[in-house]
Amino acid sequence: MSIIKRANWIRPKYDMKEEVVPLFRREFVIKKPVKKAIMYITAMGVYEATLNGKRVGNFIMAPGWTQYDKRHQYQEYDITSLLKESNVIDVTVGKGWYRGQLVGWRYKNIYGRQTAFIAAIDFEYEDGTKEILITDNEWKYCWSNIRFSEIYDGEEYVADYEPLPVENCEILYSNKENLIPQEGPFVIEHETILPNDIFYTPKGELVVDFGQNMTGYVSFTINGCKEDKIVYTHAEVLDKDGNFYTDNLRSAKQKIEYYCKDGIQTYKPHHTFMGFRYIRVEDGQKYVTKENFKAIVVHSDIKRTGYFKCSDEKVNKLYENSIWSQKGNFLDIPTDCPQRDERLGWTGDAQVFVKTAAYNFDVRTFFKKWLKDLAAGQDYSGAVPNVIPVVITHQQMATGAAWGDAAVVCPWYIYLTYNDKEVLSEQLDSMKAWVEYMHQSGPEEYLWLGHIQFGDWLGMDGAEGSLQSASNHDLVASAFYAYSTGLLAKILDVLDEDSTYYKELNKKIVGAFKRKFDGNFNTQTECVLALHFNLTDHPQKTADKLAELVKNNGNRLTTGFVGTPYLLFALSDNGYTDLAYTLLLQEEYPSWLFSVNMGATTIWEHWDSLKADGSMWSVDMNSFNHYAYGSVASWMYETVCGIKIDEKKPGFENVILCPKPDSRLTYAESGIETAYGVVKSRWDISDGKITYRFTVPNEATLILDGDEMKLTRGEYEFDKIYKK
Ligand code: BGC
Repeated sequence: MSIIKRANWIRPKYDMKEEVVPLFRREFVIKKPVKKAIMYITAMGVYEATLNGKRVGNFIMAPGWTQYDKRHQYQEYDITSLLKESNVIDVTVGKGWYRGQLVGWRYKNIYGRQTAFIAAIDFEYEDGTKEILITDNEWKYCWSNIRFSEIYDGEEYVADYEPLPVENCEILYSNKENLIPQEGPFVIEHETILPNDIFYTPKGELVVDFGQNMTGYVSFTINGCKEDKIVYTHAEVLDKDGNFYTDNLRSAKQKIEYYCKDGIQTYKPHHTFMGFRYIRVEDGQKYVTKENFKAIVVHSDIKRTGYFKCSDEKVNKLYENSIWSQKGNFLDIPTDCPQRDERLGWTGDAQVFVKTAAYNFDVRTFFKKWLKDLAAGQDYSGAVPNVIPVVITHQQMATGAAWGDAAVVCPWYIYLTYNDKEVLSEQLDSMKAWVEYMHQSGPEEYLWLGHIQFGDWLGMDGAEGSLQSASNHDLVASAFYAYSTGLLAKILDVLDEDSTYYKELNKKIVGAFKRKFDGNFNTQTECVLALHFNLTDHPQKTADKLAELVKNNGNRLTTGFVGTPYLLFALSDNGYTDLAYTLLLQEEYPSWLFSVNMGATTIWEHWDSLKADGSMWSVDMNSFNHYAYGSVASWMYETVCGIKIDEKKPGFENVILCPKPDSRLTYAESGIETAYGVVKSRWDISDGKITYRFTVPNEATLILDGDEMKLTRGEYEFDKIYKK
């Protein structure tokens, strides 16, 4: 039995004012030399522990967010070096995801009504003896300095107060069976960003601009005075008049209220985070200088693995924006956005971005943890809730095509990138249940019809101002039904299990799809799905139709969440590489570079989050940090530079190198750190000549101008005549 299960959940004996964050304290003396001391801890809420005034570990928002009722992570910290003879442990527990308000329509206490925590310290003494210290009713509690704490709304902190716990805690008899060791990476602080500018807006408000939209919080150090307070609100953008803009945050307040003490003091928030580039300082303006304030970027501890750059600075900026949106939305779970009153694990967003995410960063354990929550959130029908961990339970909207398919698509890409078969076997039942759910759903066995769907969410071919695109929902749903079933058959082959049933099912779905939809594709996304998922007997005609739709729209896209990730692939894999580059380089709205020209530093939720005149497309569905359209980075890696995973030898054991250059760029370069070393691909075009340079970490299949060649570990250079 894990040692933490020997401890007790404890909570304040008397209910405290609801908004106040409790502080729990235990003092203890050490009587003989300690060889090693390990602390195991978790909370119903989010906790921060200190030992003798020093932070235990560096996990921000610990214990992270899981399907707590079934899987509640605890953490393990080596605290040996923090110990003294007389010791004080302090733990504060904010409401976090467990009890705090979540979702625009304001749920709270989703996982329970108690603010509680549990901990055990395992001491090993030099003399070989052992002892454990556990949470019990000898721990004391009182109000902490934190008087308000909500993920969406921010924090209120009173600095001029010394907590002195005298009241004894109460033991809370609650489940410990769901306690599991930490699975995902910790969420930690990353780079520090200094203010770019401090200025007054036309409305006369004092604003600090950090120059980069990000997720995290602001820290300041001041020489203060106890009569003062410092109050500031966070926002992502300014409006068209240059004023501070918070409407798109909906009900999320993202506000800090700090009551000073006398003297030098440093502050940063404890149990919350914000999505922001700007802060508006509403009180304490005199303390605001470029030296005193800084922003701290917070996200999961995932290692950067992918790089891309080329001769077009705007494309480079777009690529960097995709990286920043990944950082901003990989805070323990893959979220839609980090700022407004959502910040939820929307499955569709994760599904469309997972491939790019896995090139950009090492996200193996990050996804494996979240996928287990996905499986834990599935009900008996196999439906995959739209957000994981589950918080929205409306039956009708409980699941949908391209969203629920995260159950199959995400494990598949994690397997391909890292050659991790474990993720496939761990998720197998969940995948089968999802496919069977689609199979059972609707009036026709081999199509998915009639269900409420998001369709090609936010596509530009729907009615003006609508969230829905013109793409046929039944077509999109049936395409994903085919796609996931096909992937599941491949996965069973990888696992050496019988795939006959799914191969047969897939064949029937593809047949039914073709009978109903083939030859009748009316939107860019409909063509894209048919091409990319191999659902047409007329690929050339479908590609021609796609090209025609793009050209008739002034060489501009109309795709939404579902079509966009595959749009450029559907073109470049079917003879239209030129047009794919035209779309990548398009600056007219709607396009990727339109947002870059409008000053975006992250990927927007909508192609027109900000319109050309600086106005917003909508007040309430308008995030400036949504990674879905950042999935275009996978085309930069795979097609511009041509670094591809070989499904037969995944995890980059063999790399397929097949760049498709275009002379509108003079060079492009990409690298991905793999288990075998870094794979690199670069090309330069000048004077009608193209030079390719490759670094192969293990083995590669090079495909240039249709010729195929095997390469072994090493560096290569090839000169060719550049043919457009
Ligand atoms: C989220 C999306 C999500 C969508 C589902 C939105 O509110 O921000 O990214 O996928 O709802 O339709």
